[in-house]
Amino acid sequence: MRISANFSILLLSGLFSFATAQATINADTLHLSSFGEDFKWGTACAAYQIEGAWNSDGKGVSIWDEFTHTKGNIHANENGDVAVDFYHRYKEDIRLHKEMNFDVFRFSISWTRIFPDGVGQINPAGVQFYHGVIDECIAQGVEPWITLYHWDLPQNLQEQGGWTNREIIDWFSAYTQFCANEYGDKVKNWMVMNEPAGFVGLGYMMGYHAPGEKGISNFLKATHYTCLAMAESGRILRSTVNNANIGSTFSCSPVESYKGKSKNSRAVAKLDALLNRLFIEPSLGLGYPYDGFSALRKIEKHMEEGDAEKLKFEFDFIGVQNYFRVVAKRHLWPPVLWAKQIDSKKRSVPVNEMGFEIYPEGIYQILKQLGEYEGVREIIVTENGVCVKDSLENGRVHDQSRIDFFKAYLSNVLRAKNEGVPVNGYFVWSLTDNFEWSEGFEPRFGLVYVDYETLERAVKDSGFWFAKELAPR
Ligand code: BGC
Repeated sequence: MRISANFSILLLSGLFSFATAQATINADTLHLSSFGEDFKWGTACAAYQIEGAWNSDGKGVSIWDEFTHTKGNIHANENGDVAVDFYHRYKEDIRLHKEMNFDVFRFSISWTRIFPDGVGQINPAGVQFYHGVIDECIAQGVEPWITLYHWDLPQNLQEQGGWTNREIIDWFSAYTQFCANEYGDKVKNWMVMNEPAGFVGLGYMMGYHAPGEKGISNFLKATHYTCLAMAESGRILRSTVNNANIGSTFSCSPVESYKGKSKNSRAVAKLDALLNRLFIEPSLGLGYPYDGFSALRKIEKHMEEGDAEKLKFEFDFIGVQNYFRVVAKRHLWPPVLWAKQIDSKKRSVPVNEMGFEIYPEGIYQILKQLGEYEGVREIIVTENGVCVKDSLENGRVHDQSRIDFFKAYLSNVLRAKNEGVPVNGYFVWSLTDNFEWSEGFEPRFGLVYVDYETLERAVKDSGFWFAKELAPR
């Protein structure tokens, strides 16, 4: 009896490992051609992190200018005043992008370059700058993909409450309308927001990012007005830009129970609601995820009649940005949440230079999770990448660990795609090394190394790897 029971367990586990082996794709032998002809390959970046020229040619002050100029907010008190000077070097950077054989370039517009005060007066030089970037992409055969908001809110609007003031819906709509009118003939691919959970959570709840606000009330207001503004902006793009492909990007991490224990299941559900569901589900018509975290019902205090309908917008694609997995546990602090994320250091797992866990299977898990939503038509991985302690030696940067990272993550993206998840593109974070928000310049994410003294660029081995893999056959 005992023998046969053991035997069937053995048989089952054998079958299971066979099934897993079949599904897993070997990272070592991965080639990007396996993704097919139509798969989009790009790099991504954001205005504040690369442009510099923070007060040139009529640009206004953003919350990131203000936040970085306040001592103590940023590692080594660094700032993006010069960043990697993309403002003056964009032609060279787009050429490098093209030389690595990427055909899609994701960049963001700095709101204060267009409207120095956020609303009202327009700054023609700023408007012209983005025409220059777009035209250069097109001239080099690169498709421009625009993010409207990658965190650099006009300071003047923040002084009126920023994302916690309901008027932001009108301010953001006017900005969207202007950009859609101005660039819509040349640019068809638009992303409304970058990671709302990131800027609302870090900027309006924890105070770790600009504008440095804290507290639940700020968080709930900013969440609701961001969701409304995101849907409204989508509608404006839809009605203004012919044949637009409209998305928004979301930070997403699979959430697991610490040590697999079932007593942590509520903690897992709450963090999943906050990190993965809160900003996506309203647009899908599912409302806020109260079932995962009932305290979110407090958002209703800030809702007006008709809001439930206005939250909906059918995006053409969802941008997924995955950097790590979250492991959660039930905990006595903080109140209401009663949950805690377990630090990757405590779990002795491989991490990058910022302490993010390197967990390639996580991207597969989160793609599968998002692929389950009926309303999600297409998914693009709009950011994924790793920071490494790079060093320049004789003009070269040998970043084999970054190549290994991409192979491992991409084989998991392919696995999800092969299983039917509608994932059709992948953007590396990032084209060049750049200003990593509160962490300053230390973490290097680029495929292109930047010497911060001279601002000279050097393509890293990982960039050459993409160039070879993506070379036209
Ligand atoms: C943001 C980027 C950031 C990257 C790496 C993403 O959350 O969109 O701006 O640099 O993560 O931390």
